Amino acid sequence: MNDYPHDNSTLSAPSRRSFVGGTTVIAGAAALGLASRSVFGQAPRTRMDIVAFAQDATRLANFEAAVQEMMDRSAADENDPRGWLPNANVHRDFCSIPDDDASQMHYCYWFLTWHRAYISVTERKIRAISGDDSFSYPYWNWSSDRHIPQAFARSGSSLSNAVRFTPPRRLQDDEVDYNPDDPTLAALGVAALSARRFEAKTPGRISRSFGGIARPNGLGAYGNNRLEGTPHGPVHVYVGGVSDEGDAGDMTDFSTAARDPIFFAHHGNLDRLWEIWRQNPARRATEPTSEAFLNHRFVFTWIDGAPIEVPMSDVLDTTKLGYVYDSLDVFRPTPVGPMASAESTESASGRPPAIGRQTLRVPLQPEAVPDENERKLLEITDVEAPTQPMTVSVFVKPATAPVDQLGTSIGTFSALRAGGEIAWPSQTLTFDITAVAKKYAGEQITVQLIPQHIRAQGAGPETYPPLKFGQMRIVTEGASDHHR
Ligand code: C2O
Repeated sequence: MNDYPHDNSTLSAPSRRSFVGGTTVIAGAAALGLASRSVFGQAPRTRMDIVAFAQDATRLANFEAAVQEMMDRSAADENDPRGWLPNANVHRDFCSIPDDDASQMHYCYWFLTWHRAYISVTERKIRAISGDDSFSYPYWNWSSDRHIPQAFARSGSSLSNAVRFTPPRRLQDDEVDYNPDDPTLAALGVAALSARRFEAKTPGRISRSFGGIARPNGLGAYGNNRLEGTPHGPVHVYVGGVSDEGDAGDMTDFSTAARDPIFFAHHGNLDRLWEIWRQNPARRATEPTSEAFLNHRFVFTWIDGAPIEVPMSDVLDTTKLGYVYDSLDVFRPTPVGPMASAESTESASGRPPAIGRQTLRVPLQPEAVPDENERKLLEITDVEAPTQPMTVSVFVKPATAPVDQLGTSIGTFSALRAGGEIAWPSQTLTFDITAVAKKYAGEQITVQLIPQHIRAQGAGPETYPPLKFGQMRIVTEGASDHHR
């Protein structure tokens, strides 16, 4: 069988070239492209939910052994290209850099695309090193499993030994972007799937777009897209957490996040959500068609130290990248336990104090029948960078409600570290409040920003300075915005 040239790690660069035969000029790049093997008719592998993946003990052991081998190699020689660390450092080099750096793969439309290519390269390295030709990197369905899955938490396993200060609680609904109070958003399972467009054409739309804004762009604009803000950020901060000494766990810091094997399982689920979103042809049609996007190639390093390229044509078709998902349902079809909403016993007193608050009137007449395509959005403008990692839930309640009442959660935002700094690309935060706006039409509401516990011990003082922002306002996203 003609196998993907990189799967045999002992192949040297010259044999890779001979693999494509005579068509050397452009085939050189194609041969290095990750999708080259599917050109030869290989069936894609299935990427599995980690819970199903781990049911096969041999499969799990092979995965653990390969990651352990990579980690051991890095411990012996941190530059060994077969090591775990050089692979993890790719994320540091492309993501833990200034927000406006041209190489930055966050805060723009390279977020989903680059991470897809990155997972794929990593999974192929493990496939080659493990010798398990069917290996695909399993994903963590945090919509269904609100704790770190067992396979990534078992003591002694290479999949669990990353630096983590995970708080002793489960992920809340709002951190995984599940909004049970709004029927439209609840049906989606992940509210970010309501984003209508992939590419943001103006800076003001970045946080409502599914895929982000172009980079580079004439405006020099950047920011978290809808999915990147939540659930992407809060899950990072939850897993990594913060130690009692104030140290960020690996996942809480972009410079170290990919050292934690769960990074690729988290991003696998985000990648799966992209596949779910693009099942809708109208939405998929909004993916960029510019040459700058379609002709782009991402460069990584293979385990022999040679550069490999991943062309965008392969990134946009997972079967070319060599995988499909076992399920395109947001939630695992057979629930394994009660949903978090069944245990939302939280009261305001159990949470750190609010770091922001504003009362505003809902500009909606009680008798108005809103267009079903119309969404009401709460925008928080001119948000200044927080000074420490955090995840903040945004709550809305009637202005007359008691002080200790939390109200309805409408979403979260989070701040990660990026090396020595806080990564903060978001000047404007946007939350879909359609359901609460209908409920409180014409009334005064109070919006409160209340941090989540992210400390390992979950005890002791967890306090945050006030968040500085310009104003909170309610805006309308109409049906016609669909066409913009
Ligand atoms: Cu490049 Cu979740 O980070």
